[in-house]
Amino acid sequence: MNPAEIYAGFLKHVAQTSSAPMGLVVESARGCSLTTPEGHEYTDLLAGIGVAALGHGNPRVLEAIEKQARRYLHVMVYGELLQEPQVALASRLAGLLPERLESVYFTNSGAEAVEGALKLARKASGRSRILSFHGGFHGDTLGAVSVGGNPVYRDPFEPLLPGVGFMTFNDRESLGVVDSSVAAVIVEPVQGEAGVVIPEAGFLGELRARCDEHGVLLIFDEVITGLGRTGKLFAFEHEGVVPDILVLAKALGGGLPLGAFIATRELQRHLSVDPPLGHVTTFGGHPLSCAAGLASLEVIVGEGLSERAAVLGGYFAERLRSRLASPVLCEVRQIGLLIGIEMSDPQIVTRFVRECMREWLITGWTLHDDRVVRLAPPLVITEAELDEASLKMQRALARVPGSEL
Ligand SMILES: Cc1ncc(COP(=O)(O)O)c(C=O)c1O
Repeated sequence: MNPAEIYAGFLKHVAQTSSAPMGLVVESARGCSLTTPEGHEYTDLLAGIGVAALGHGNPRVLEAIEKQARRYLHVMVYGELLQEPQVALASRLAGLLPERLESVYFTNSGAEAVEGALKLARKASGRSRILSFHGGFHGDTLGAVSVGGNPVYRDPFEPLLPGVGFMTFNDRESLGVVDSSVAAVIVEPVQGEAGVVIPEAGFLGELRARCDEHGVLLIFDEVITGLGRTGKLFAFEHEGVVPDILVLAKALGGGLPLGAFIATRELQRHLSVDPPLGHVTTFGGHPLSCAAGLASLEVIVGEGLSERAAVLGGYFAERLRSRLASPVLCEVRQIGLLIGIEMSDPQIVTRFVRECMREWLITGWTLHDDRVVRLAPPLVITEAELDEASLKMQRALARVPGSEL
């Protein structure tokens, strides 16, 4: 198909939910670049929203996929046959996590892992109420939408899960609603789609204490923050606050679909009794995804990419703060290589993102705060690439009306 045919087919036959898709035809992707059929090379500052932690086409990941593809693909629904790639990835994750996060249930996606975590919390606690946070995002299945913290995306789908309440991130007083009627609190340890909102020191610790006091399970959704993105392998390490259930996805599969919810074996057991098979999935923990995920994880750990993300993220944010300084810039928020650039209004952001594309940069805004440009480049990006990207963003912003100093 030529690019025009691909574009026409995309609009006609690939169901759209974006009113203004980026619309780039991808010819190939390597490292931090995406190339179009016309030979235009874009620097990918989003990495498929944090999926491509090692950039695109990492040779170790490709080799693991190829090797596993020759052994076997899908063989059986989740948890019946012993598949080495699943066992190896689960064991490696457990070895990197605190003791209580020892048992991994693999899913296909983040939302599906959130669903599993919510079901597990309800079943284990015998309670039904779930608390979450305004601005939070946990995926787009019905359960995940129910705990999503933006009414714009909930209201059209009501009635949703009953008994869901919302607290305010970084507001300790709002934690007062956590009581013994609650099964679980679900929270992103750094809110991504809310505009990269970083917790104040002690906030997550106070939430943990409040949950402990009332026997409430604490679920950390690290779908975007997990696996090195925030400068630690897991964002909960920043404050040493360990959840009862950890949800991962995005970078977990090394570019293939994979999610997981992780807890103690004792807790996970609730999904295998009364009734047995209380949670099943056909494709969850696909051997290709697990093999790719393990190869990717080994690179992240072996090459110290989390630590590198902390240093590079600091460097990039400092460049952005000085180069984007203008009346329309409100704040640059950064933790590792997860960055939110808050601007004065959504129109400025839309125009800026478009101008960035004209500079061959892929960026995007966050779903629950369209005043924020979110960046999540591959963890392997270099200082030189970030420096150049910040210069291009400076040029892009200079073309946005109102940005003149
Ligand atoms: C924090 C968080 N949780 C859950 C999800 C849903 O993951 P998926 O799109 O794989 O269903 C996302 C997706 O962006 C996310 O950022």
